[in-house]
Parts: sequence; C-alpha cells; structure tokens
Amino acid sequence: MRVVSGIQPTGNLHLGNYLGAIRNWVAMQDDLGDDGECLYFLADLHAISMPHDPAELRAGTLEMAAALVACGIDPDRSILFNQAQVPQHAELQWLLSGTARMGWLNRMTQWKDKAGKNREGQSVALFSYPVLQAADVLLYQATHVPVGDDQKQHLELARDIAQKFNNDFAPSNEVGDEAPVFTLPDAIVPPEAARIMSLRDGSRKMSKSDDSDMSRINLSDDADTIMKKVKKAKTDPEPLPSETDGLAERPEALNLVTIYAALAQTSAEAVLADFGGEGFGKFKPSLGEMMVETLGPIAARFNELKADTDTLDAILAKGAARARERAVPTLARAYEALGLVRG
Ligand code: TYM
Repeated sequence: MRVVSGIQPTGNLHLGNYLGAIRNWVAMQDDLGDDGECLYFLADLHAISMPHDPAELRAGTLEMAAALVACGIDPDRSILFNQAQVPQHAELQWLLSGTARMGWLNRMTQWKDKAGKNREGQSVALFSYPVLQAADVLLYQATHVPVGDDQKQHLELARDIAQKFNNDFAPSNEVGDEAPVFTLPDAIVPPEAARIMSLRDGSRKMSKSDDSDMSRINLSDDADTIMKKVKKAKTDPEPLPSETDGLAERPEALNLVTIYAALAQTSAEAVLADFGGEGFGKFKPSLGEMMVETLGPIAARFNELKADTDTLDAILAKGAARARERAVPTLARAYEALGLVRG
C-alpha cells in the first residue's frame, strides 16, 4: 500500500479538513504498520494558482506542517514534505500535460467554481491544477488517496490520465508482462464526514477561503471562540427530529448532526436517538464541548510546535529527501516511455 495525500498550506487548518481528510491520514498511518508507506505533503505549488503573498505562503507552509504533526502525523513514520522541495512533481506535471485533455479540465467543478464568469482572467495554473494533482499521486505509485468529497473528481481525473498514458505509451504486450508506468489510485473518502458544510450556510462547504471566519472552526480557535461560533451557527427553529429522514430539507441541522456524529465516531442515527425532540439550545453546547474536547489538545500541541521553525524546516527537509528518492524511478520511466532522451 502506498498512501499519498496533500493539503494546501494557505490559511488555517479547519474542522472540515480535519474530519474529511487529516483524521483519516493519521488512522491510515497508524494502521499501516509494515504493510506500506504514507506520504503526506503541503501543496505549496498548488497555492500559487491563486493570487498570494510570498511571505504568507512561506509562513503558512511551516504552520501547516506544525498543524499536521499536532494532529498526529508522525514525521518518522510518515514522509512529510512540501512539494517545492521535490521538483519531480512539477516535472511530471509537464510530462502529463501531453496526455491530459482540455475537455477533461474544463469539466472540473473546482475550476468552474473558482473561475466563475472570469475564466479569461484566471492563471493557467488554476486551470491545469488537476494535472499537478495527478502528478502528485502518480509519481509515487499511490494506491490509496484519503481525501474529502470535493477532491474525488480530481482523483478520477488522475486515474483517467494514468490510464491514457499507460495505454498510449506503455501498452502491455501480448503476454501482458510489461508493467504499466502508473498505478491507478483509489480515493478513500470517509462516509460520515466527506463534506462538512459552512456554519453560516448549509449549502456551501466549510472552506478556508470563505470571507467569514464565523463559517468555520479553525484548529487555532480557543475554547471560547469555538463555543461562540457554534452558538451563532445558523439553524432553524424546529427541534431535532428522531430520524435522519427528518433532516432532509434542513441542511444546517444536518451539518451540525453530521459534525457531532463524526466527532463522536458514531452515526447520525445514534446522535438523533439521544437528541431527537431537543432544541438547538440543548444540542449546541454539547456539540461545542465535543469540538473543544477533540481540538483542544491538538491546538495545544500546534501552539508549542509552530514557533520552532528550525525543527519544522528539518522535518520538511528530511521528508523531501525521502520523497525524492521514491519519485526518481517513476519519473525516469515516464521520460523513457515518452521517448525523451536524457543524457
Ligand atoms: P485542500 O487543501 O482544499 O483540503 C485538504 C483536504 O481537506 C478536505 N476538505 C474537506 N473535507 C470535508 N469537508 C470540507 N468542508 C472540506 N474542505 C476540505 C479536502 O477534500 C482535502 O482532502 N487540491 C487539494 C490538495 C492536493 C491533493 C493532492 C490532495 C494537492 N495535491 C493530491 C490529494 C492528492 C486541496 O486543495 O485540498
């Protein structure tokens, strides 16, 4: 098993990232033992696809490394690094750009959402972003990619690129004994927390790019801030139903129940068995306490680690060296398959 995943080091790590992805990264690391390896990276190359401030990106990269370690990523067991220190990501992206089709990229919902009506004014990087994401996982022959629901489409694209590249440039011979260049990766999406929504609008996902800080719970929020955000979270006037069917037309209520269930590692049904018939005045304080209980210890570790930039730099340098070693053979095979001569 080769587990590979990434996170953009812009803004804070929020509860959606944690429940949708990072908690799974830690679980996979802990469960894997000797059966494989996990590579987790900060997608700093992806971050330049949007307008950004270089000093903030540098600081954000180290902070996100601290956040991941605080969440339980162990840099001795997992390979933790930032893309910019592993040039093979950008190199493979270019090689895959000959295989990816404009039409495939045009269909990406993230591109459509982020570009909106102003496609002409967007960076080329925002458009070709999913090709870099494909390179990120194909470079390491990833078998499993733990992500939230919003990244599933990008993973399907990575599979399409891998499949077409293998067919076009490394077709298996008649006896089928020629190994394909790339492994087709599977997305691993947690069923109960694949899509955590904004606390202000149950139809939008919780996101670091939302203008309102009240829309998300950040890893760096203290207990008072968390309780205040939960108290102010948008809801409706009805009490909670006893069955999940009763949440169908109530996106904000559904989101809060989903978050509770994910934090308690139980099902929405079990949460409603306890809280069905109760109003939000009772439910919200319990939910806030669950958040504080889970995030409090993580935030404390994060605050200790984030000032120690020498240690964080060393973690990323070591991770990048290990990642480069693993990246080199696949990149060489991709050059060779394409007929590119490299001295
Ligand atoms: P990013 O940085 O937006 O998010 C990191 C991870 O958090 C998940 N996530 C969520 N899950 C549930 N509910 C939410 N509201 C929520 N918001 C974010 C994301 O699905 C993701 O798993 N393009 C990627 C980073 C990336 C990557 C990769 C991921 C670059 N290369 C290769 C996997 C493999 C991104 O911007 O994620």
